[in-house]
Amino acid sequence: MANVVVVGAQWGDEGKGKIVDWLSERADVIARFQGGHNAGHTLVIGNTVFKLSLLPSGIVREGKLAVIGNGVVLDPWALFSEIDKISAQGVSISTENLMIAENVPLILPLHQDLDQLREAAAGKAKIGTTGRGIGPAYEDKVGRRAIRLADLGDEETLDARLDRLLAHHDALRQGLGAEPIDRAELKAKLQEIAPRLLAYAQPVWKVMAEARKSGKRILFEGAQGSLLDIDFGTYPYVTSSTTMSGMAATGTGMGPGAVDFVLGIVKAYTTRVGEGPFPTELHDEDGQRLGERGHEFGTVTGRQRRCGWFDAVLVRQTCAISGVSGIALTKLDVLDGFKKLKICVGYEIDGQHYDYLPTAAALQSRVTPVYEEMDGWQGSTSGARSWADLPAEAIKYVRRVEELIQCPVALLSTSPERDDTILVTDPFSD
Ligand code: IMP
Repeated sequence: MANVVVVGAQWGDEGKGKIVDWLSERADVIARFQGGHNAGHTLVIGNTVFKLSLLPSGIVREGKLAVIGNGVVLDPWALFSEIDKISAQGVSISTENLMIAENVPLILPLHQDLDQLREAAAGKAKIGTTGRGIGPAYEDKVGRRAIRLADLGDEETLDARLDRLLAHHDALRQGLGAEPIDRAELKAKLQEIAPRLLAYAQPVWKVMAEARKSGKRILFEGAQGSLLDIDFGTYPYVTSSTTMSGMAATGTGMGPGAVDFVLGIVKAYTTRVGEGPFPTELHDEDGQRLGERGHEFGTVTGRQRRCGWFDAVLVRQTCAISGVSGIALTKLDVLDGFKKLKICVGYEIDGQHYDYLPTAAALQSRVTPVYEEMDGWQGSTSGARSWADLPAEAIKYVRRVEELIQCPVALLSTSPERDDTILVTDPFSD
């Protein structure tokens, strides 16, 4: 049986929700392995729209096991509000179909405070975070002072963890002009949610090992995108987790051999939310048109996304780093009706040609994209279900994308409807 990892190959918002849902129908276990409720996935099933942030997409389908791995940072209050919201839409969520790694670090209100205080203090140098406390929670994890799910089960441990954590946060807060944490209030809040949260706690690594052994199909659901990766993204304008495929293994407690197919989700143009470099960003009518036709507003924060032409250099780079086996190309229909389309095929910096984005911030800020122009198409690709339904120029565009990123198209998505998909390679078939 094949196990599949889905990762965004750009700056997130590539349309992972639909593809993950499509794959999760055939998976047995669906696992989140990084990020937190900074993610936003919209699923359209029949007439119902589900908006998920933290819960694995498979949760909305009956008979699937949804897993939140140790690589995630978990805000218990956000989780419960999402569980309540999705349950009210008729989905049954229990300890039978949701498991959370007992070693997952928690996001606390103090993390959200710190995220927002820092962003406000940074002024123009802000990252443009989602303000959910993701970065500060990961800092505490690697700083060895996080409160982890299992810590909620024992008062003495919780007290010791709180002491260590608050010594750090109170000092930081003082520097930022904020009040110290009310320890008693925080402890009471944690003790109040502990029983409900602990009910979902499991040694996820063991659950995953058993699933693998018994031939279950596992879908690893990545959040955000490769260019937001803490190591390989446009640092420091990134999220605080590893968004590359390799994290699927460590973020759930499996070995690297557990992954058989890496599906990179790639939008037919480029978008980004928040601050940071974006070589092909458009500030003209074309950019506005991409934003309007693509409904480019954030699921989580409602922020307008920045839009630009397809950047083949960046996608080639992220596909290599994540070892992408095939891509799902999404939102091709947003390009319908453009007379001319541009694809970025290289960069020029100070007169020198680059076939990758160098790491140095000073170089990134001077990047000029080198474009290749292609004819657009006047017909519609929306809802196409076979290559024969696509205008010749659209096929040419897709083929050129494949060539430039050095990776084949496994799936082509032509509308938000799940059946409007052209399947070239089934990631689950082995
Ligand atoms: P954080 O993850 O909230 O710390 O935000 C860091 C950066 O990642 C910001 O530029 C956010 O806009 C971006 N980001 C975080 N989550 C997502 C996502 O799910 N989609 C797109 N961008 C995201």
